[in-house]
Amino acid sequence: MRIDEPRRDGTPRTYLMCPPAYFAVTYAINPWMRPDEPADPGLAMRQWTRLRETYLRLGHTVHTIEPHPELPDMVFAANGATVIDGTVLGVRFRHPERAAEADAYMDWFRTHGWASVHEPRFVNEGEGDILLAGDTVLAGYGFRSDEAAAGELAAVFGRRVVSLRLVDPRYYHLDTALSVLDSSTAMYYPAAFDDAGRAALSSVFAELIEAKDEDAEVLGLNAVSDGRHVVLAEQATALSRQLAARGFEPVPVDMSELRKAGGGAKCCTLELRA
Ligand code: ARG
Repeated sequence: MRIDEPRRDGTPRTYLMCPPAYFAVTYAINPWMRPDEPADPGLAMRQWTRLRETYLRLGHTVHTIEPHPELPDMVFAANGATVIDGTVLGVRFRHPERAAEADAYMDWFRTHGWASVHEPRFVNEGEGDILLAGDTVLAGYGFRSDEAAAGELAAVFGRRVVSLRLVDPRYYHLDTALSVLDSSTAMYYPAAFDDAGRAALSSVFAELIEAKDEDAEVLGLNAVSDGRHVVLAEQATALSRQLAARGFEPVPVDMSELRKAGGGAKCCTLELRA
């Protein structure tokens, strides 16, 4: 096998996850959700457990938050907050079905020693729409988070914010269409963005990997990178090959059951940046 590029360097990370004990598709707030096609909670739990074990095997630390019986989407911890440099910005959900998750996650931060915790003014669905690339905060809007949340992000985190409009309802959260691999590298699905968004991404990232339709459609971009290992949907085979050719190490996981709610590995994972 030919190695096209040298191996990338990764760093150990700390994540927050929520076991899918009450996972179900009982309402539809994105095009993936079909309440008439129920999900298998046992399989969802096995897939989630394997994801958690994968992070531990890669040397990461995983904290867990208690799930709530009335909040079937609480497994999607990425939507619980945004945490940069020890500062926590809470979330505010677009849809009432998920509204109560905001306080559940806020309580976790307040009771686990996080001193700088901010209540949001605008709708923002946490790391679902807010991604960090080096010193730049990327803020997705169009379906869930408010465009106006960008000003709040700049104030709370003291960093440059680049807003990105999402235009395809299947890719309703930024983390379904864009994955930050390291401070200068990302993979993305170009058709999920408008011209201005694609131009902005080209200016933020020195290196951009384009995902094909079939890899985006299995939520292959909903991936978690530590700078070297990229944990992503095992069905995204072409994307895995692209990553390997660039010196990353793809780590495939099967998240098919969680995908019935519109989520993958990244949605189940909130990075806690101390
Ligand atoms: N069913 C959830 C919703 O529509 C899925 C959230 C996926 N999370 C994410 N970070 N993309 O809100």
